[in-house]
Formats: sequence, C-alpha cells, structure tokens
Amino acid sequence: MSAITVIGAGYVGLVISACFASLGHNVRCVEPDDRRLGRILEGQLPIHEPGLDDLVGETSGNGTLQFTGVIEESLDGSEFAFMAVPTPSMPDGSSDLSAVMSVADQLKQHADDGTVVVIKSTVPVGTGDSVASILGGRLPVVSNPEFLREGTAIKEFMEPDRIVIGADDDKAGSAVAGLYNGISSEVITTDRRSAELAKYASNAYLAVRLSFINEIALLSQATNADIDSVTRVLATDHRIGPHYLKTGIGWGGSCLPKDVSALEHSGKTAGVETHMLKAAKVANAAQIEFLVSTLKTQLGGLSGKVIGMLGTAFKAGTDDVRESPAIAAAVRLVQEGAEVRVHDPLALERTALAAPELHRVNDVEKLTFGVDALILSTDCPEYRAIDWNRVSQSMKGNFIFDARNALDAQALNSVGLQYAAYGRRLRSN
Ligand SMILES: NC(=O)c1ccc[n+]([C@@H]2O[C@H](COP(=O)([O-])OP(=O)(O)OC[C@H]3O[C@@H](n4cnc5c(N)ncnc54)[C@H](O)[C@@H]3O)[C@@H](O)[C@H]2O)c1
Repeated sequence: MSAITVIGAGYVGLVISACFASLGHNVRCVEPDDRRLGRILEGQLPIHEPGLDDLVGETSGNGTLQFTGVIEESLDGSEFAFMAVPTPSMPDGSSDLSAVMSVADQLKQHADDGTVVVIKSTVPVGTGDSVASILGGRLPVVSNPEFLREGTAIKEFMEPDRIVIGADDDKAGSAVAGLYNGISSEVITTDRRSAELAKYASNAYLAVRLSFINEIALLSQATNADIDSVTRVLATDHRIGPHYLKTGIGWGGSCLPKDVSALEHSGKTAGVETHMLKAAKVANAAQIEFLVSTLKTQLGGLSGKVIGMLGTAFKAGTDDVRESPAIAAAVRLVQEGAEVRVHDPLALERTALAAPELHRVNDVEKLTFGVDALILSTDCPEYRAIDWNRVSQSMKGNFIFDARNALDAQALNSVGLQYAAYGRRLRSN
C-alpha cells in the first residue's frame, strides 16, 4: 500500500481521498481553506455526495485518511501527490491554472525526491509539460484525468469505464496504475498530452451530444413530432447507444461548460476552428430561451407573474449549482419581471449565494401555493412523487413546464394541469 497526498478537498479531492483510503492506501488530504478544513475535521463535509460521509467517516476512523491544512507536513514520506485543485474558466474561456501552478511550486519546494506528481484536475493539453518544467525534472508528472459524475462519484471511482494514465515515464505511469489495484477496469495508457486532451474530448462530446438531441427536441416541437419516440429510435441503434440522449433544459455544472470553453480556447491557440463546440454552446442557450418564451406566451407576459421552480442544482442528486441551467433560466425570468420561487432538496444554501434574487422556499407545498406556473428543472425522485392533484388546487394558474421531460403528461392533464415540455407530442385524453 502507498502513501498518497491529495491536494484539494473538493468534489474530486474528497472522493478520491476516501476511495484510495478505502482501498487501503494511506491518504493525507490537504485543504488550505481553513473554514472548509474546519468543517471537514468536525465531520461535516462541505459537499453532498451519496455515500461520501460514511466512507470519509470510516477511513478517518481507521486512520487511513487524514486531513491537514499544511502541505509540507502531508508530503513528508508521500510517494504520490495528486492535484485535485480547481481549474475554473477565465473570462476568455481559457482555464485558470493559478492553483495548479501554485501547487507545482509548493511541490518543487517540499516534495521528496521521486514523489510522483499526478494531475487529476482537468487541465489543457500541455499543462503537464509546464508543471514538469516547474519541477525541473526532479519529479515525474503523470496525467490521470478524473471522469466521475457528481451524485454517483464513489460508484464511478470504484467501477470506472476505464482508468486513463497519461505518462511519458513508463515507471511512473505503472506506479500510478498500481494504486488502482483492486478495481476491475481497463487501464488505458497514453502519452501525457493525449490523456489531457482525451478528458476534454470526452466532456465536449457529451455536451455536443446533448445539444444535438436538444435541437432535435425543438424540431420535434415545431413539427408536431415526438422527441421520446425519436430518441427511442436513435437509442436502439447500436452505433449510437442510449446514453446522454435525454433532452431537457440544457447542460451545465462545474465541468461541461468550462471544459467546452477551455477546449475552444485550446483550438484557438492551436489554430484549429472548433465549429462543433461553438454550435453546441449556441444550441444549449436555445433551451433556456425556449422555456422563457413558452412561459411568456402561456402566461401572457411575465411581468408580475409568480413562477415556482422545482430544482436549482445543475442536476438531481447534488448540491452543486455551478453553471446550473435552472438558475440561469430563473434569473432570465426575473429579468423579464417575474417573481421566481425556488426549491431544491439539497442546493438551497448554495443557490442563495449564486442567485440571491430568487426566493428560496424549503417546502414544495408552500412553493406551489398561488403560483401562476411551475417549472420542473431537476429530475429528483422527490418531485416525481408529488401529488399533482393537490398542486393543481394550490396553484393560482395551471401551467407546468417539465424542463426535464420527466413527468407523466396525461396524469397532469387529468387533474386539470396544462403540461408543456421539450418536443413531447401530447395525446389529448
Ligand atoms: N466536480 C466534478 O464532477 C469533476 C469531475 C471530473 C474532474 N473535475 C476536475 O477536478 C478539478 C477539481 O474540481 P472540483 O469540482 O473538485 O473543485 P472544487 O472547487 O470542488 O474543489 C477544489 C478544492 O481545492 C481547494 N484549493 C483551491 N486552491 C488550492 C490550492 N492552491 N492548493 C490546495 N487546494 C486548493 C479548494 O479550497 C477546494 O477545496 C477541476 O479541474 C475539475 O475540472 C471535476
């Protein structure tokens, strides 16, 4: 078993720390933000991720996982140093690599000779080279991009589709692959640059695919076809497959938007026009505009209207509101003069910081009372279980926009609610 330092205790850092510790490695996770570290040490994780509290509790309890704010301490005797620090978008779409470079400087000063530096953060192609040059060749640098999805992150760490190791140094690459012993998965070994690019290509492909199906949904809407039927035809074609073909309010979250922008920026730098990425972004914005214009038409304008929104996280099962399309839509509705009341089972605290202009309500029944329209913007099991008959009696209006194409239109119609979604052909009952 190995001694591992993980730098950054966010979604990725916490998940990989707890998972590596549960595989038996000795993990020290470094978090420089005192408040965040304090909460973690008190047993209160700063993020919501199913199963993570238990895994952190268990591995901290048996001593395989420790947290610290001091990088020097944690690096003492570490064989591996994983970077799990943020790489947010700059205004021009490029990645802000300041945290990565600052960690590289600290590793240069404090890491033992031979410590393998592993870049888990999503970084533009060539970043590993820059980190290696800061380290002056003293420490090998391996790219090991992370593909976990929030909400199912632990399962995806333990049962990944593949583990990607990008290394120009075979010995360091094999050592990193060895950390995953016990996990049954294909290990794809590449050069470092290809691994870096593959991570972006993977996220950008998912964004393009979602934008494509969303565009087909709008076409279905305009031509009186049915997106559910069209999708079924696509999904059963083995060349296409069923995943990431669910139409809805658009893609968001902490990764897809920033990674698409960063890849576009890499294209610009490399002199390659990234037509597909541009189109995917334009199509994504169209989903929110469709929602806003549908509500505007249905309600006879938005000024003074009260609209309830169920779900503010970028998807169900997480409290992450970064680049949430639901919040973007809600803010657009406020700009058009509506009052928007929002609910989310996990993300209301973060919503308050991201969009204070939205009225937060922590009870679904209270939220529906007196609203002119309701939007379902995340596909939470809790919302699927709503008693729509009661909702129809408590609302002022009767219009429901199902922005996740998740609800049963006929069931809603049968209790007097008017249903709209993206490209669903509705049978009248
Ligand atoms: N969240 C995801 O689903 C996901 C999935 C795959 C890859 N990634 C990538 O992983 C990286 C981290 O993402 P995240 O969502 O975990 O971010 P996050 O914002 O949740 O967490 C980052 C953590 O790093 C800490 N940090 C910031 N600067 C630091 C520094 N200089 N030294 C040490 N720690 C520092 C922060 O305080 C925070 O705790 C990003 O590059 C992201 O693109 C994220």
